[in-house]
Amino acid sequence: MKYRSGKEIRDLFVKFWVGKGSRHYPSFSLTPDDPSLLFTIAGMVPFKAYYLGIRTPEAPHAVTCQKCVRTNDIENVGRTARHHTFFEMLGNFAWGSYFKREAITWAWEFLTEVIGLDSSKMYASIYQDDQEANDAWRGSVGLSESRILRFGRDENYWFMGERGPCGPCSEIYYDRGEKCDCGSLNCGVGCDCDRYMEIWNLVFTQYDRQQDGTLIPLPRSNIDTGMGLERLTSLVQGVETDYESDLFMPLITHTCARAGVRYGECAKRDMAVRVIADHARSVAFMLADGILPANDGPGYVLRRLLRRAARYGRLLGFEGGFLHEYLPILIEVMGDPYRELIEQRLTIEKIMEVEESRFAKTLAQGTELFEAEAARLRGERRMVLSGDVAFALYDTYGFPLELTLEMAEEQGLSVDKEGFEEAMKAQRQRARAGSKQKKSALTGDLYTELENELPPTVFTGYAAHSGEGKILALLAGGVQVEWVDTGAEFEVVLDATPFYAERGGQVGDAGKLYVENKAVIKVLDTTPQGKLIIHKGKLTEGARAAVGMGVRAQVDDERRAAVRRNHTATHLLHEALSRVLGGHVRQAGSLVTDRLLRFDYTHHEALSREQIEKVEEIVNVHVLADTVLDVVECSLDEARARGAKALFDEKYGEVVRVVTAPGFSVELCGGLHVRATGEVGLFKILREESVGSGTRRVVAVTGMNALGAFQRASRLANQVMERLSADESNLTSKTEALLEELRRLQRQVQEVRLKELAQDAERVFQRKDVGGVILQTGRLTSTQPEMLRDVGDRAKGRCSPTVVVMSVVEEGECRLTVMADDAAVKRGVNAGALVKEAAALLGGRGGGRPGIAQGGGRDAARLDEVLVKIETLLEGQLNK
Ligand code: ALA
Repeated sequence: MKYRSGKEIRDLFVKFWVGKGSRHYPSFSLTPDDPSLLFTIAGMVPFKAYYLGIRTPEAPHAVTCQKCVRTNDIENVGRTARHHTFFEMLGNFAWGSYFKREAITWAWEFLTEVIGLDSSKMYASIYQDDQEANDAWRGSVGLSESRILRFGRDENYWFMGERGPCGPCSEIYYDRGEKCDCGSLNCGVGCDCDRYMEIWNLVFTQYDRQQDGTLIPLPRSNIDTGMGLERLTSLVQGVETDYESDLFMPLITHTCARAGVRYGECAKRDMAVRVIADHARSVAFMLADGILPANDGPGYVLRRLLRRAARYGRLLGFEGGFLHEYLPILIEVMGDPYRELIEQRLTIEKIMEVEESRFAKTLAQGTELFEAEAARLRGERRMVLSGDVAFALYDTYGFPLELTLEMAEEQGLSVDKEGFEEAMKAQRQRARAGSKQKKSALTGDLYTELENELPPTVFTGYAAHSGEGKILALLAGGVQVEWVDTGAEFEVVLDATPFYAERGGQVGDAGKLYVENKAVIKVLDTTPQGKLIIHKGKLTEGARAAVGMGVRAQVDDERRAAVRRNHTATHLLHEALSRVLGGHVRQAGSLVTDRLLRFDYTHHEALSREQIEKVEEIVNVHVLADTVLDVVECSLDEARARGAKALFDEKYGEVVRVVTAPGFSVELCGGLHVRATGEVGLFKILREESVGSGTRRVVAVTGMNALGAFQRASRLANQVMERLSADESNLTSKTEALLEELRRLQRQVQEVRLKELAQDAERVFQRKDVGGVILQTGRLTSTQPEMLRDVGDRAKGRCSPTVVVMSVVEEGECRLTVMADDAAVKRGVNAGALVKEAAALLGGRGGGRPGIAQGGGRDAARLDEVLVKIETLLEGQLNK
């Protein structure tokens, strides 16, 4: 078999299926548009709607090499030869075109003729009673009966998830020879060991599994296949594990060089090396697809992986962050075809760095927590670290369970793994719940039906803000209706509309629909539903509106103008932030309304006052330049060539829209903009804040809203100046002077109070000779601790040797301060010990040094008793 690189194999696969007439899609994002999944787990996931028959495929069959993440087995990654969290799935898909016979014979053709696998070492498995698959293997491929194995549902049936597409499958195995045999008598095809390697899964997707487990036949007979690129590559390259293939080796080499170790010499270190290689890939690809570290959902998985890698780095002696060093290597190995690694490089590196340095801190804290817990357990002669502590270490401090296990073992402790699993399960449920909030385009609901029924709405709003249309559908109370009358809100679908539907952070248009029968519909919001535009509104004039009627749609243009100003300003802001903070700044979300704009972006610290002003300045310079925006529709490739900031979830093959502020900003954007930047009027940042780790938010205004902000600010300033009889030139100095005066007065008041207190103290202190030491006892009303100290010092100055006991009762709680002068301490007095016991009597705690101690408790009613006790204790101390 000819040696081929991983990249060559990937390319050959695509070329082979394109040769069979398949449409090639570049890999889709790792985050699926599917609430039942956190990640894209297989090549078929992006095509789910084609399988279910909800959408019509663009082509009858397709081929991809899909980025996938599977996280069910993280703890095994690094331990074994072929577990990965990130992998590439080679797959071919067909929806009602070719079926079992072609899928099987072409798969065989690819493996034997293109790749050159030895056919005498190949086996196939089929679902027990799948005669059609059997016939294809026997008749079309010519495989002997002895090399076709029949398995049951556990082995040869593939389900996308609890619900969704599924079907029987046929798998292709390769016998790697006796040297890989596990030695078991039963070793054979299907054995878990590494001899009979499963290389390709061909699924005949014919059913849709329901929640209750029933299988409903799909409208078409489909094909879905999956073959791990890493696995196939290791086979072609004749190496033992996936990690030794050229897809991983450069990563492994870097780790070994950095750690000064050799791969293959120490099992424990090798595991760390593999963990880092795997996790560097998943972390980089997740970040490239716009996932950010978070405490739930996909971002949580990302964080766990990053921390697990960092921890294993520590085992190799790596200090501080190191993952970002893998970016150039990954780009070298996978930058073609995964350009997102190149385009997002700065962002990926920056976030890795920030997260790693954050973990470096929790790593130390977690170790401290662990040590304290271990010491406590030893003290109590207990042997088991609780599941909750193990989980806190895992979850809060990012400690993988096996690390906690290792650390526990060193201390002769075990870990309550069941308790850990329980806590973990609860966490997983939280993670899943988080991901469910996402809206899906896949639910076979009213809108999807409508979308299949109606032509796509023609959007005319880029050029116009009014236009003629016809009512194609009306929805009220969740059902389609023929007509609507006054009262409740309803939804309108037109054949064509100038109303912009909420998208890309820009709010939907508002306005009016003038119906031909003189009825008027007030549109409050406009939202997209797939290819339809939905107007939400109410009848404000006339009795009814019905399907089939003509309307004149009129967008509220004043509101829209404000939205357009904010949208263009958002682009200018994005670019200005990149220039001021660096190229790692990437949009993480935005909201553009008629009142304000909100822009979330990746950055690790707050903007300084100077940076805010710099950003405002840059944006306003470009506003004043009044450059005419350039808007074109083109292919994604052309957009990239124009320098557009690439968006990670852009659909391929589509025409994209590029909005350029010449000489400044270029972005892919479907939104509405001003004609020339000057229309923005004025741009002002209102505030800047954090929205989670590594993400900041800027809220800003433009146009009349900016004027309003300035008016409010100057009104406020004027009010203040009037009150202070100041003007702009001396407002600051006058304020400073006022504050200084205030501080001086506060000091004065304090001194006076102190004097009063001291006089008070003369009266409230009772003195008594206890074994030659003067015990001064006083009940005070002061609640200021620093004053108490002062009063005590004065009392101490009056006689010697002396012990001063001060009590303050407030809201049923009693605070004690005990001070002893040096002479008393010399005679054996210990204020700390006195307070400790006294406080215990009060039902609280306290202590301190021999010369001064504080404490107290809630049992203020026992104060008299306590004072007597102190006297007794004092006697005891003196007699020692
Ligand atoms: N979707 C199938 C799998 O993941 C091909 O194995």
